[in-house]
Amino acid sequence: MTREPAAHGPGRVEPSRQTTPPVGSTGGSALVVEHLTKRFGDRLAFDDVSFEVGYGEVFGFLGPNGAGKTTAVRTLGTLIAPTSGSAQVAGVDLCPENGPTIRSRISIMPESPGLYPRLTVAENLECFARLYRVADRHERIERALRAVDLAERAGDLCRSLSKGLRQRVALARALLSDPAVLFLDEPTAGLDPVASREVHELIAALKDRGVTIFLTTHRLEEAERLCDRVAILNTAIQLVGRPDELRARLFTRTLEIRLRSELADPAAVFSGLGGIVGWATSAADSYLLTVADDPDRAAPEVARALVHAGADICSIVEARHSLEDVYLELIDEDVEARKR
Ligand SMILES: Nc1ncnc2c1ncn2[C@@H]1O[C@H](COP(=O)(O)OP(=O)(O)OP(=O)(O)O)[C@@H](O)[C@H]1O
Ligand SMILES: [Mg+2]
Repeated sequence: MTREPAAHGPGRVEPSRQTTPPVGSTGGSALVVEHLTKRFGDRLAFDDVSFEVGYGEVFGFLGPNGAGKTTAVRTLGTLIAPTSGSAQVAGVDLCPENGPTIRSRISIMPESPGLYPRLTVAENLECFARLYRVADRHERIERALRAVDLAERAGDLCRSLSKGLRQRVALARALLSDPAVLFLDEPTAGLDPVASREVHELIAALKDRGVTIFLTTHRLEEAERLCDRVAILNTAIQLVGRPDELRARLFTRTLEIRLRSELADPAAVFSGLGGIVGWATSAADSYLLTVADDPDRAAPEVARALVHAGADICSIVEARHSLEDVYLELIDEDVEARKR
């Protein structure tokens, strides 16, 4: 079976002029959001949201269905006005007068690609390049097509493309204006693992090029792999930080120990060990040790104590909490809170 597209793979994004704040921007941050709220009548889409994103960062915006992610993208992308609060986007204050300036510095790849199915890939890009009044139209289109590795499919009708390829055309469209800040709203939704990986490679290449990326996704492993920092949103922001910081904030660090057979007196082995603040038996021959701070320092001491007690060690590993564990902890907590 041949996979589309051509064999050499995506991710060859060329150097950009947008590796630093755009000319005319006021600050050092790509996005500054302060107490931003959006209501649709009685319905609160997002509430009192504040965060900052530096230039060149990949910032993940995570949250359940209806959390307000797309509405936040549309608000920061100047498509709808906030109800209250303030923001700076690519160094420009978010207000109706600044809409055209902000739009000239950003791109949005929406949840659905929004292409003309009866036009070819190149015709679609031509059409949007004219709409965006892109200078050097032909060169930009070629560059965008090369960036997403679709040059060979330029003549294909969009309706004949797979979902994955349509998603890449949408990404090419978002790249036409050489944005300083790129909003990607669930760019891998509905894509198979290989197509998703290709989009991930493109995002990583854009990051290397210095493009600031605001990424909404439900795929937590995607956020973990790509994002420098993430915000977890559930109408209000629950937590913002690097994935490893969030893990450290929510979970104690733990060593998982598996032995060939049960210890006769585990308390005698584990109690009083430096750096160990608690222990529990997780199965007959397995133990979970809660570490005060550094598992790398605690593990050798634990190993020595076990050997001294005559135990045969099969494994000692640090328990890894994924971003998914962090997310579920927060979102579960919130659901519980709402039930009260
Ligand atoms: N135009 C609109 N009019 C009224 N309510 C809206 C409108 N757009 C969004 N909402 C509401 O705002 C809330 C947030 O929706 P939003 O689409 O931003 O969520 P989301 O986090 O992007 O969800 P998903 O993960 O499903 O894409 C929802 O309750 C939604 O019904
Ligand atoms: Mg959405």
